Parts: sequence; C-alpha cells; structure tokens
Amino acid sequence: MGGMGIGVLTGGGDCPGLNAVIRAVVRRELRDFGGEVFGFHDGWRGVIENRGEQLSVQRLRGSLPRGGTILGTSRDHPYMSDDGPARVAETMADRQLDALIVIGGEGTLSCAKRINDEGHANVVGVPKTIDNDISGTERTFGFDTAVAIATEAIDRLHTTAESHDRIIVVEVMGRHVGHIAAWSGLAGGATMTLIPEEPFDIATVCEALTRRHAAGKYASIVVVAEGALPMPGTIAVPEPDVDRFGHQRLGGISHVIAHEIENRTGFETRVTILGHTQRGGTPTAFDRVLCSRFGVAAVDAVHEGKFGHMVAINSNHIDAVPLADAVGQLKHVDPQLWETANVFFPTGESARSNRLG
Ligand code: F6P
Repeated sequence: MGGMGIGVLTGGGDCPGLNAVIRAVVRRELRDFGGEVFGFHDGWRGVIENRGEQLSVQRLRGSLPRGGTILGTSRDHPYMSDDGPARVAETMADRQLDALIVIGGEGTLSCAKRINDEGHANVVGVPKTIDNDISGTERTFGFDTAVAIATEAIDRLHTTAESHDRIIVVEVMGRHVGHIAAWSGLAGGATMTLIPEEPFDIATVCEALTRRHAAGKYASIVVVAEGALPMPGTIAVPEPDVDRFGHQRLGGISHVIAHEIENRTGFETRVTILGHTQRGGTPTAFDRVLCSRFGVAAVDAVHEGKFGHMVAINSNHIDAVPLADAVGQLKHVDPQLWETANVFFPTGESARSNRLG
C-alpha cells in the first residue's frame, strides 16, 4: 500500500518514551510506506488551532533516549468548545491527513474515541501513562521507567533511614490506582505499601511498625500512592484542589500519614515526595522497546484501517484493541500481585483480611 498522510499528537501529562513513539511512527511511515507525518504541537490544542510541523527522520535523530515530547503537550481537548470537533475535521482536511495517531492517557484517549466515533477524524491511539491504569493493555509505556526511578529512590532511602533509625514515608504518583506504588514497593523492599484500591487503617499501619521496631528493626520505608485512601472514620485527609480540567491535584497525603505515624508510635518520621521526577528523563530500555513497537504498530493499524482502536501489549504480543475496551474503566492493581506484596508486610492476619478481592 502507498504512503498516507498521518497526524500525530501527544496529549495529557508527559511521560518517558513519547519521543520514542513519535520516532517510530515517522520511521515506519516515511521509510517503509513513503508517506508523510505531521506533528501537532501541544496536544489537541495544535489540531484545533491547526499548528505543528512536518516531521522528518532527521528531526527525530537522537530523540530515542530523551524524555519529554518534542511536540509539546497540553490537557486541552476539542470538547472544551462548541466548534472544537469541527475544527479538528477542518484541520485534517486542510492538511490532507488520512489519520491521526493520538498518544495519550485516559482523558486524551476518551476524546480520541469520541472524535473517531463522530467521524471528525480517523484515529488510532497509543496508551501512555506512568500510572499504567489504561484497560485493554497489560502495560502502558512510561510505567517501567517510573517504577525504576521510584525503586532507585527507595533503595537510597533505605540506607539513610537505617543510619538514623527513622521511618521514611515515600509518596509516588498514582491518582486512582496503585501500580507504581505496588511495583516499586515490592521491588524496593518497602516495609508497607498503601494503594488507592485498598483503603488503609492508620492504626494497623502503626501497630505493624511498632511490632517491627520491637523485633529490633528500627528503620522502615512506607510507600504511599498519592491517591491512597484512609478507611472511613479513621484519619482525615484534606480535600485536594481541582485543576481547570476537573482533575484532582494530589500530592501531600504522605505528610498526613507521617504526622500520624510519628504521633502514634513516637518514631522519628520523614517524608519524600517523588512527584514529577517519575515522569522526567530518559526511558528505560524496556520502555524504549515498547515505544518502538507501539509506534510501528500504530502506523500499521492506520494502514489496516483499524480506526477507533488503540495499540496494546498483552502476553508480550502487540495488537490493536477497540478504544471502547480501553477507556471508561481504569485498570487496577492485579490482586495476585497485591497478594504477593502482602507477604512482605509485617501487618499480620487482621490486616490481611482486608485485601483486594
Ligand atoms: O501522568 C499521570 C499523573 O502522573 C498522575 O499520577 C498525577 O496525579 C498527575 O499525572 C499529575 O499531573 P500534573 O501535575 O501534570 O497535572
């Protein structure tokens, strides 16, 4: 089949590996099909305002290991204004584009599905987010990198916590799901991990830490997902701010938890919030490979006419799944993985009765 005109955008929060996907899209379309790729700037905003740049293999040189996105990103989307969807269609026609590859998380892909379903553009999605919360794919790119960054941080915090006989509460990202916390906690040998899927009882956490100290271990690492929830009727967490897109701006629950731990146990406690370090910098080798596979597969999906689909990896096989299966419901931490994580917590039987089903 001959070359096609393909648009590409990166939307929502950034993520290590975005450039690697764009690079793969450009290589595949330009080199193997002889088509063209237009990169829209600043996510959906660039499509609405019809601005961006023609991409070349040369433009993407050296981009594989670079974090961020050469195209820029934003949380704007076409449904923020009445004429947004029509402007997407106008841009596609004006630039003679056959399809749009949308690299994004839940919000961006939900929008991509709607734009596709309503016929404003032919869309193929690529699942991006360090949170790994998109359904239909076992992995999103960026997650492996975030886990590696968080694990390295936990390793470092172990030694300083041990030197001072302290508890350190490490807060990682994960608004509604605890994938980063569960994986980095397990990989980093956290004493305990708290995830949004399983509300925690601070009394149980403190009892476990006290028991551990009584057994002669005076340093502990507690990994907390930013969206972790206390059990109703236990401790109060301040209501998070909401940004102009309606997203809760989380970050800071670790201060509440650390304060409670110190007050209830008497053990000196410190807080480390990893924040956006988890999203910045170079992707891991795993993510670079995944991004390259996703980018190539997205172009192939365009050529196969698989619009309204998203590339996905399941059992190490890359395929295209309907966007309808990907958006609408978040993918939560696998109960089997969480069961394994629990084996390493000093919580005892009572706490273990409250497990993910
Ligand atoms: O990329 C997803 C995510 O990392 C969430 O876990 C986090 O709450 C959010 O992004 C923060 O994004 P920003 O600070 O860019 O609004």
